[in-house]
Order: sequence, then C-alpha cells, then structure tokens
Amino acid sequence: MRMKAFVMRSIGSVGFVDKPVPQPGPNDAIVRTTKALICTSDSHTVHGAIGPRENLTLGHEAVGIVHAVGDQVRLFKPGDRVVVGAITPDWGDLASQAGHPSQSGGPLGGWKFSNTKDGVFAEYFHVNEADANMARIPDSVADEAAVYCADMMSTGFMGAENADIPVGGTVAIFAQGPVGLMATAGARLRGAGLIIAVESVPARQDLSRFYGADVVVDPSRENVVERIMALTGGAGVDSSIEALGAEATFQQCVEVTKPGGTISNIGYHGHGDVIGIPRLAWGVGMAEKTIRTGLCPGGRLRLERLLRLLEMKRVDPTRLTTHPFRFDQMERAFEVMDKKLEGVIKPLIAF
Ligand SMILES: NC(=O)c1ccc[n+]([C@@H]2O[C@H](COP(=O)([O-])OP(=O)(O)OC[C@H]3O[C@@H](n4cnc5c(N)ncnc54)[C@H](O)[C@@H]3O)[C@@H](O)[C@H]2O)c1
Ligand SMILES: [Zn+2]
Repeated sequence: MRMKAFVMRSIGSVGFVDKPVPQPGPNDAIVRTTKALICTSDSHTVHGAIGPRENLTLGHEAVGIVHAVGDQVRLFKPGDRVVVGAITPDWGDLASQAGHPSQSGGPLGGWKFSNTKDGVFAEYFHVNEADANMARIPDSVADEAAVYCADMMSTGFMGAENADIPVGGTVAIFAQGPVGLMATAGARLRGAGLIIAVESVPARQDLSRFYGADVVVDPSRENVVERIMALTGGAGVDSSIEALGAEATFQQCVEVTKPGGTISNIGYHGHGDVIGIPRLAWGVGMAEKTIRTGLCPGGRLRLERLLRLLEMKRVDPTRLTTHPFRFDQMERAFEVMDKKLEGVIKPLIAF
C-alpha cells in the first residue's frame, strides 16, 4: 500500500512524495492521520537546523485512528482514536530510567518524528512503543483540541513546570507564540499570582490575556527589564520563561529573575556558538538562580494528564488555530507558517 507524504526534499525545499505505508514492529502502531498541526520547528528543520535530510516526512503534532498494531501491543487496537506525543522516547533507555525520557538515545533523542524518522504529515505514520507513546482520546474531547497535547500544551506547560512557580508567585514569560501562550496558560494552572507576558504583536497580546497574562509588556515600546522590575517593586520575578530562543530574551530572563529564582528555557537557540549569561545579574555565579532547560515531555501518562485538562475544560487550546487547511493544501499551509503570513499562529491540517 502506498500513501502521500509531505517531505523536506533537501534544505530549503518541501513537497509531496509517494511512500509505502509503514509496517509495525511487535511493540509499534501505525496510525491513520486525521488532524495535524505545523510547528515552528518544522520550519527550522527545513531551513537546516538539524542538518541535511532527503525526503524526510515533516510534522510531529498529530491525532489519528489506529490502523494496525504489533503483536506485543496490549492497550490499543485498530479503530482507537489516539493522540501521539511529538516526542516518543525509548522507555527502556537509561536516560528514561534516570527520569529524562526526552533525552533517551542521546541528547534530544526522544525527538524522532521529522528528525530521525518520518514524521506525521502523511496519510499514515509509525509509532514506536505504542503502549507508552500514545493515548486514547476521551469521547468528549475533539480531535481539534486533542492535537494540541502532542507538543504545544506539553511543551508550554513544561515551561511553567520547570519554572517552579510558587503558588501566588510572580512569573515573566518572554514571547507569546503558541508555545509561550501555552506557557502562560500553564503558569495560570500552576497558580501564579502575577503573570507578566512579553510580546509585541497585538493579536498575540490579546490571546496572552485570554490565556492568563495580567500584564503584557511590549518589547517594541518599553524597556522590558525596567518595566518588569517596576511591576515587582524592584524585586524581580520568582520565575521566568524563555519561549522564543534568542540570546537577548534569555539574558532578560536572567536579569528579571530574583535571587533564588528559576529561569526556564523552552526556546530553540539556533544561532551562535555561545549563549552569554549577564554576569552581574547572575550574581557573579552565586545568586542561586537556577537555569532549567527541557524538550517537550512525551509518554502516555503525560498525554493522559493533558487530555484530562481538556476533558475538564481547564484550558481551550483551540483558540491558537488560525488557519485550517486540507492535507492537499500543505504546500500553502507550510508557506503561511514558514513566513508567518496572515497573522498565523497555528495551521490545522485536516486529512
Ligand atoms: N523545547 C521544546 O520542546 C520546544 C518545542 C516546540 C517549540 N520550541 C521552540 O519554542 C520557540 C517558540 O515557538 P513558537 O511556535 O511559539 O514560535 P513563534 O515564532 O510563533 O513565536 C515567537 C514569538 O516571539 C515574539 N518575539 C519576537 N521578539 C521578541 C522579543 N524580543 N521579546 C518577546 N517576544 C518576542 C514574536 O512576536 C512571536 O510572537 C521556538 O524557538 C521553537 O523552536 C521548543
Ligand atoms: Zn514542535
């Protein structure tokens, strides 16, 4: 059986190709894709972030219907409606046993889709360790919402979890793209007392308030560090979250975080060999400021927890969907996301 897949042909070039439908190993599943989202990192990949690839199927955010399972799969059967994590760790790896499944198989090794194996922008895709890497979607949760569990909710909420925000504490979140917006929603869920978001695009500022920001600071008009220090009475915030991937915003995080506080980095830092830490703001290395980093958590337990938030209507990620497309319009959808045209936040692809 053959299928249509949307691939990175080479650096800077995308398009459709025909591929065979993948086969499951004993622990694996094959999922028929129903909905998918394009991620900013799909753009990074096509522009060469992970090096050259030839006809690599793009995409790592999807829901679908189980098409086939290997003979060792216990929890899923054909016909089940599932969401699959963007990150699909090897759960037997020592990094997983040490509590870092996203790093299984080497640094960022849990990131397989559209990196070390074909991704989800195809009519069917392969899931390793199916029992551990996907979750059944409750009947009350629509595909259009569940698809946000794969990456945006898991990654954004990780940003808030790693930030170790005290209940009632203060947090500054730099950048309100879909990842930063989910970090804002996560900060609210984690009980932050004051949420300061940093973003200049008006539509994203509005969404930021929708997801829980109390104050939105505009970096194109204000001195961000001075404003955040003023908003916290000169103390700085308990926690800061970097959701862009730029040295300047990372440094601002260090500057606005109070001694003893936590800087949680989500952004992908794609440029330069060194990311500088502002020496004095870092208390010359002694101000007990913790810097934490992370890659989107995967796994069924994580996915089931995220789905529970949707089931209980604690958060509505569908406000991030700005552009619906059909799979056959993928070239246009990718261009819109790649060039951030028409105020796009997330394009939703229907198969
Ligand atoms: N760690 C992970 O697991 C993980 C997963 C997914 C994405 N990411 C990374 O997260 C980052 C954000 O992804 P996204 O899809 O939300 O990106 P995006 O490009 O949609 O959003 C970035 C936002 O930053 C804003 N911005 C630009 N300059 C700014 C500044 N100086 N201060 C504050 N805001 C500024 C832009 O207006 C934009 O709204 C990317 O680097 C992406 O690769 C990481
Ligand atoms: Zn992603």
